Parts: sequence; C-alpha cells; structure tokens
Amino acid sequence: MSNIIIAPSMLAADFANLQRDVEMVNASEADWFHIDVMDGHFVPNISYGMPVIQAIKKHATKPLDVHLMIEKPERYIEEFAKVGADIITVHYESTVHLHRTLTQIEDAGCKAGVVLNLTTPVSVLEDILPKCYMVLIMSINPGFGGQKFEEITYNKVKKLRKMIDEQGLDTHIEIDGGVTDKNAKKLMDAGATALVAGSYIFKSENPTETIKGMKKLLS
Ligand code: DX5
Ligand code: ZN
Repeated sequence: MSNIIIAPSMLAADFANLQRDVEMVNASEADWFHIDVMDGHFVPNISYGMPVIQAIKKHATKPLDVHLMIEKPERYIEEFAKVGADIITVHYESTVHLHRTLTQIEDAGCKAGVVLNLTTPVSVLEDILPKCYMVLIMSINPGFGGQKFEEITYNKVKKLRKMIDEQGLDTHIEIDGGVTDKNAKKLMDAGATALVAGSYIFKSENPTETIKGMKKLLS
C-alpha cells in the first residue's frame, strides 16, 4: 500500500480561470499544489510571483509546495512564506550557502527542501540530507512544462533512496518534469514519494479523473 503524494503543477493551469482550477485540485485526490516560480535568470522563462501565489492561497485547502527556480532565493524566502508557502524548495545550484538558506526557510515557518538539476549528482546532498524535509529531483531541464521525461532520473532516485535509508531518514523524494502514467509507477518503485504533474493533469480531458487514475495506479 502506498500513499504517494500527487502535486499538480499550477504552471499548466488556466490562469484566466485560476480559482476554478484551484477548486478542482481542492476537490480532487491530489495532495499538494506545486507552484513554479521562475525569474528569467536561473531558468530561461518567467512564470509568476507573490501576488499569484497569494491568490492561489486564498482558495487552496491543501499545502503549497513552492519550487523556486530563481537566483539567490535567500533574498525572497520571508516574502514567499508570508504569501502562504508551506514547503519551499531551492535549487542546489542557485544558492551559495545552502545550509543557511534552509535555516532561513525553517525560521520563516516552512518546510525546507533542495532541488537538483537533471545532471547534478545526488551525492552532493550527503551532508545536508538530515536538514531536508524533501529533495526534488528534476527529470527535465527546468524552465518549461510539457517537456519529455529523462530516463536518467530512475537511477538518481534509486541512489537517493539508498542514501536516505542508510541515514535512517524519512525525507520525501519528489520528481518534477514529464511525469505521466507511463513513468509514475517506475518512479514510485525506485523510491519516489511525491510526483509533480502539470501537462499530464491539466491538458487531460478530465483532470479530476486523471488525478484519481494516478492515485489508483500507485495504490
Ligand atoms: C518546470 C517545472 C515543472 C513543470 C512540470 O521547470 O518545475 O513543475 O510545471 O510540468 P510537466 O508536468 O508538464 O512536465
Ligand atoms: Zn516544479
């Protein structure tokens, strides 16, 4: 029996109908809202920031999992906490003093996590792992929704699962990018505990049923 976390990525929602899409997630079997923040520097795309997160928070009844794809995220942690983030993840590649940034997230009252780019090895996390509520492994190059899942992810998940078990931790492993019914089960079997899905959910005919189908496939 698994109770894997499903986090629909709001990047794929209809921004002109944001409240409708937030309520869809509220009423569905999904667990978290995945919120992608992009600054046009760390990744070659700009998404949305605090006012949009605040608008989502106003209607959301489930935790906000805020994925910061921005340079020097330490500049904005308190603001993201203030507009309603419950979990904040920062890229390993985006901040020089990772330990300090994670402490800052905790001090702001949020759960802290680290994100790894596609080719950043999981071994860099060895010492910081006890401080991570979650590790997010990118299964694409971050910046855009709708990209193809990269197969090298499975091996990274397995290695990270081993590290977490060896250290006796219960850190979440979340996967982000190109997640569908074709790879979800294999990711869970490799050790993932949370899956982000944008296009697969929101571009489907019936997002609520798609979420339900994912949960069923992974039960
Ligand atoms: C991309 C974002 C993802 C994105 C996933 O950089 O981090 O969360 O929304 O979208 P899909 O599921 O369409 O690959
Ligand atoms: Zn993301």
